[in-house]
Amino acid sequence: MVAKTLFGFEELLAKELRNLGASNVMEGTRNVAFEGDTGFMYKANLCLRTAIKIIKPIHSFPVRDEKDLYRKIYRMDWSDYLTVDETFAIDATVNSENFTHSLYVSQKTKDAIVDKFRETHGKRPDVDVKHPDMRINIHIHDSTCNVSLDSSGSSLHHRGYRTATNIAPINEVLAAGLLLLSGWDGQCNFLDPMCGSGTFLTEAAMIACNIPANINRKGFAFEKWHDFDSELYEKIVDSSLRRTREFHHKITGFDKAPSAVRKALDNIENANLSEYITVTREDFFKTQKETEGPLHICFNPPYGERLDIDMENFYAQIGDTLKQNYPGTNAWLITSNLEALKFVGLRPSRKIKVFNSHLESRLVKYVMYEGSKKAKYNKEV
Ligand SMILES: C[S@@+](CC[C@H](N)C(=O)[O-])C[C@H]1O[C@@H](n2cnc3c(N)ncnc32)[C@H](O)[C@@H]1O
Repeated sequence: MVAKTLFGFEELLAKELRNLGASNVMEGTRNVAFEGDTGFMYKANLCLRTAIKIIKPIHSFPVRDEKDLYRKIYRMDWSDYLTVDETFAIDATVNSENFTHSLYVSQKTKDAIVDKFRETHGKRPDVDVKHPDMRINIHIHDSTCNVSLDSSGSSLHHRGYRTATNIAPINEVLAAGLLLLSGWDGQCNFLDPMCGSGTFLTEAAMIACNIPANINRKGFAFEKWHDFDSELYEKIVDSSLRRTREFHHKITGFDKAPSAVRKALDNIENANLSEYITVTREDFFKTQKETEGPLHICFNPPYGERLDIDMENFYAQIGDTLKQNYPGTNAWLITSNLEALKFVGLRPSRKIKVFNSHLESRLVKYVMYEGSKKAKYNKEV
């Protein structure tokens, strides 16, 4: 199978897959290939935090041109996967000299499937690009065509805990990946000082308690497959839930906007995580570290989408607040505003290139050591 992911998360995803029990794990570019049985495919969809979707190859063949593609797709027995009453959609990607238009490839594939059904059943299944019963993935690389079924359906960042929002929330897969990159493992207190709709808080609690990432999701595409084994799936859910662990630290969120606090609390309740997370209305710049012992901070501050904030001053205040009020803290932030980042005024001990949607961003780490009055910060050794 192949699990797709975001730029820079391949190593994290490979590690997640190995921990879950996948074999022959191989990192690619924005994807990781692995082997596993049907039960493992269910488990991967349910548990992986950094996968966007999981596709299962069903056929692979050499292909010369569009006519050849049509012929070979037509030859496949599509009634194994689809009925005339079900809907389908095609996702195509091409990386080949002979095929340059992915849209044309998906149209040819669709034509071949539809013509085959007309020929054998006298009727054809309809296309539904938004909510198909079956999503078919075509990948042409040089002169090889791989045909796969999308076992996930909508992207796996749709965890199922988020209610509609007008706040620009961070993608859940991105948030989980950033937390894992930051080394968050639930062994100390956690704070998101600008939590918005609470994505970092929710993902941090799920990591801390080892709760399957997609336990609240409405469903997966494989549940509509003809060979879906509901008993096996229930067993996988039960065994994954048995592997959750206790968490004895605090997870806290601040936001200065009351609407964000309400939204975060709603989402946290939807995820059944209210017992682990506290959210309060605060201006981060007026707060200080409340508890003894190490603190892990991870957040995405505004990056300048609103013109009413003076970004240079805002990022300088982030640096001052961390330095003066948060001793004994490892603080991580992600921003795409690389100019404003310079005004934090602290030397980052790590800088990792990531993408927030299409925006090139940095995940940076600042280490604030315990000090007598003011926190000392320094480059981590
Ligand atoms: C980019 S959003 C964070 C989105 C969040 N990670 C999510 O997934 O929804 C930035 C948030 O910072 C909040 N904010 C801005 N200035 C703040 C301050 N001084 N103290 C606390 N929150 C602040 C905004 O209200 C906004 O909700």
